[in-house]
Amino acid sequence: MPREKIIIDTDPGQDDALAILLALASPDELEVLGITAVAGNAPLAYTQVNSRKICELAGRHDVKVYAGADRPLVRELHTAPEVHGSTGLNGPVLPEPTMPLQEEHAVDFILRMLAEHPPGTVTLVPVGPLTNIAKAFMRDPGAAARVKRIVLMGGASSEGGNSTPTAEFNIFVDPHAAEIVFRSGAELVMFPLDVTHQVLTTERRMDRIRAIGTPVAEASYQMLDYYRQYDQKKYGTDGGPLHDPCTIAWLLNPALFRGRRCNVEIEVDSPLCTGQTVVDRWNVTKRPINTLYMQWADSDGFFDLLTERLARL
Ligand code: BDR
Ligand code: CA
Repeated sequence: MPREKIIIDTDPGQDDALAILLALASPDELEVLGITAVAGNAPLAYTQVNSRKICELAGRHDVKVYAGADRPLVRELHTAPEVHGSTGLNGPVLPEPTMPLQEEHAVDFILRMLAEHPPGTVTLVPVGPLTNIAKAFMRDPGAAARVKRIVLMGGASSEGGNSTPTAEFNIFVDPHAAEIVFRSGAELVMFPLDVTHQVLTTERRMDRIRAIGTPVAEASYQMLDYYRQYDQKKYGTDGGPLHDPCTIAWLLNPALFRGRRCNVEIEVDSPLCTGQTVVDRWNVTKRPINTLYMQWADSDGFFDLLTERLARL
């Protein structure tokens, strides 16, 4: 099997960091063309630095990191320091990165990769607000048809929202960008809260990660230990949801997840529901099916995979 070429578009974020580590630990299956940072969990000035810190933690100074949008298309930027800390990556003390930030803008990089590779061979993996992807599609309306697929973390339906009663954070931060992406015609594979809330960093799973005993495992433990505090308190669960790495885990082993193909649209302008992903499970609208909407995860299988891969770094 040829390796899948991916671009990770991200706003690290401790769970973003684990998504990056899982991808970099899987070079037999995934070729990371680059990492594009976006404003979301923290301002761009932090998320681009955090992206480089994680590459260096993985010993991958060669990975190219690009900075993208520093604010959503229309709305003011809304960050989440209450979840991720003031830097977006609170927890372990990681050294300042020495690898350079690329000069090329993230949107230019995404469009260049789609132009340089044969159509249908580059997968986009956005795990933050969809601003960079939407900007690329706005600039080049033919770009969406050239992606292989978009495997994204965002949205919610049966689980309710985590930013508002109906909206999940990534979509809430930039619903206008999400609307462009969901209407782009690209094949979408979507990991909403409905499925990521099944993937919990329980005490036992955390202990297994720590027991690996490497610097990467210890830093991962410390990131997740910080990150789980907010959600544990909020939801009263053993552990917090590990959202973003679900995308990479699915690319590595699709059997870990199950979903249904349906239409998903974005609410962009509603006093109560802005940022809601409207999921037409029963095809009542007859709108075109645009999304594989994930609903179930084998969470033990997910953590087995994550633990095994972290041990490789
Ligand atoms: C999403 O929002 C961020 O806080 C996480 O990194 C994840 O991408 C979950 O709603
Ligand atoms: Ca994220």
